[in-house]
Amino acid sequence: SRLIALIPAAGSGSRMGNQLPKQYLPLAGKPMIYHALATLCHTPRIDQVCIVLAPDDELWVRYDWSPFLDKLKVLYRGGATRAQSVLYGLSALQSEGAIQDDDWVLVHDAARPCLSSAQLDRLIDALVQDEVGGLLAIPVADTLKRADEKQCVIGTAAREGLWQAQTPQMFRLGLLVAALNKADNTAITDDASAIEALGLSPRLVLADAYNFKVTYPQDLALAELILQQRGA
Ligand code: C5P
Repeated sequence: SRLIALIPAAGSGSRMGNQLPKQYLPLAGKPMIYHALATLCHTPRIDQVCIVLAPDDELWVRYDWSPFLDKLKVLYRGGATRAQSVLYGLSALQSEGAIQDDDWVLVHDAARPCLSSAQLDRLIDALVQDEVGGLLAIPVADTLKRADEKQCVIGTAAREGLWQAQTPQMFRLGLLVAALNKADNTAITDDASAIEALGLSPRLVLADAYNFKVTYPQDLALAELILQQRGA
């Protein structure tokens, strides 16, 4: 079976407090999405990399994507939520007959630009023989507090057994489309949740902290340092 990557990049990035959607924010001299795209395209085992953009995206065409043209496919199919963007993108590939139900799909957020090839390889190695599929994740390091609306602590959650979910998340196309079709796509924030709702148990593959999600403005500076150190 083949291995396809899909990057949902149809978000507005409102938490960054920026006009430019997060995936296009400048990072190490390139739009943010460039970095994850490069890592996915340069992995020989990945056959195709699909980007899901908002239907009214006008920024994509302003950049040079020529290094990736042999593997890249651009879909203007984004929806109102991440889960919808993933589902619409996968459905488009499915209806084109471009991909089979037992092909693997690696869904990766544009907002995780520091994914390394080594991490990606470990994820694929760990899951390619798996029944269900799974995701990169890292055990929670901080103590977790629950707060009320006045920002006062009302409880401490037991940290044991809690992991932070990252991406890529890797599932077979048929299963993932079925799961996303059934899920409440306004509520879920990752692909694994939809699989879990079917009663299945995705496998966690130990990740590193470099693959963090750029969410707040200060995350950009950190990502820039990491990418520069790698020579991006
Ligand atoms: O905003 P957040 O960091 O959770 O977004 C995660 C990923 O989902 C980003 O790559 C973003 O572009 C994408 N997304 C999307 N369609 C939406 C919302 C988010 O493709 N409607």
